[in-house]
Amino acid sequence: MLTSSRTWARPAAPRRLARSRRTIRPWPRSRRRRKTTDAQHWRESFVIALPDFPWDSLASYKTTAEAHPDGIADLSVGTPVDPVPEVVRRALAEAADSPGYPLTYGTARLREAAAGWLARRHGVTADPAGVLPTIGSKELVAWLPTLLGVGPGDKVIFPALAYPTYDVGARLAGAEPFPTDGLLSLGPERVPLVWVNSPSNPTGKVLPAEHLAKVVAWARERGAVVASDECYIELGWEKRPVSILHPDVSGGSHEGLLAVHSLSKRSNLAGYRAAFVAGDPVLVKRLLEVRKHAGMIVPEPVQAAMTAALDDDAHADEQRERYSARRTALRAALESAGWRVDHSEAGLYLWATDGTGCWDQVARLAKLGILVAPGSFYGTAGESHIRVAITATDERIAAAVARLTVA
Ligand SMILES: Cc1ncc(COP(=O)(O)O)c(C=O)c1O
Repeated sequence: MLTSSRTWARPAAPRRLARSRRTIRPWPRSRRRRKTTDAQHWRESFVIALPDFPWDSLASYKTTAEAHPDGIADLSVGTPVDPVPEVVRRALAEAADSPGYPLTYGTARLREAAAGWLARRHGVTADPAGVLPTIGSKELVAWLPTLLGVGPGDKVIFPALAYPTYDVGARLAGAEPFPTDGLLSLGPERVPLVWVNSPSNPTGKVLPAEHLAKVVAWARERGAVVASDECYIELGWEKRPVSILHPDVSGGSHEGLLAVHSLSKRSNLAGYRAAFVAGDPVLVKRLLEVRKHAGMIVPEPVQAAMTAALDDDAHADEQRERYSARRTALRAALESAGWRVDHSEAGLYLWATDGTGCWDQVARLAKLGILVAPGSFYGTAGESHIRVAITATDERIAAAVARLTVA
């Protein structure tokens, strides 16, 4: 029989989050005035104040684009469309007979492959003990504040124009999402976690080593962790992205630093959910402990597939060439149709503007059967830009280019 000294009380009222510059869905109105059952109290308490899912607001533009006689060219999301490399599929298939529980820490081979890739491709000497696989990197971005024990009263800092999941992760932890590009404007308050993202989604901007080194110095002075989302690091076009773990940035010590890497874009593995975090072995051990308790485990066949992908550069170089050709064609077509492309030195997007509001640009392109993302999805500073993904097939990119060229 289960015994407990705890009495079952009504759940605590939901935590009210600090105000942020992004939309927060209001908590349910005061419960005291309404007669509700205990079951209803429970259901209402489960609400977490998350922003509305922005992609839903693109639906009508999608319908317009789909009505184009030659079909839609969907450049709104950065999802890979090219085949999973043969070497990776083979590794997955060979590991298919996998009846036991996988290691949360990942196999030693996987952690060595990740450290080997960081050394070979990015000049980073990482301790394999400081590598931990994650179920895609979005999962880690969303849960890192929680896993690190960040909570109410804490600020989570991330770029003013950013992938929305940094904001979501802060909210899931009950912390305050704080988008800013000006760390120096922050007072002496406690800041446990700072996100950087280079190359950036959505702008494609690459932060130079000197800039990243300043962020690291600022964070170390305050004991803050710097988490660097580097999922586009292999996709530098006009600039070469540098890892937060590179000695020019870290000063040779990984203390307080975590680099987040994904195989979704490099190796077309978005469907496998294959990523890892590397850096400070003490922090990684702490993440491992919580993830073991929480069952956040990458399946064994996926670990084998990741190992093969990290050991092989040929497929990544081939994929890079495909993206490079699509990017060149699309960029020229957008410019010929009156758009200016800003930043976009790296990554899988063109950050473009024709000088009007982002929604007007989305509408203009939807009439040509081209769907793009409005810059406002990534922060108010994006209101006059659109984000154009270069991840569609050659055939769909060619269709978009043809429509832009005659427009
Ligand atoms: C900046 C950034 N971080 C993380 C992710 C998540 O990637 P995944 O979960 O596929 O590893 C994305 C996906 O587009 C992204 O743009």
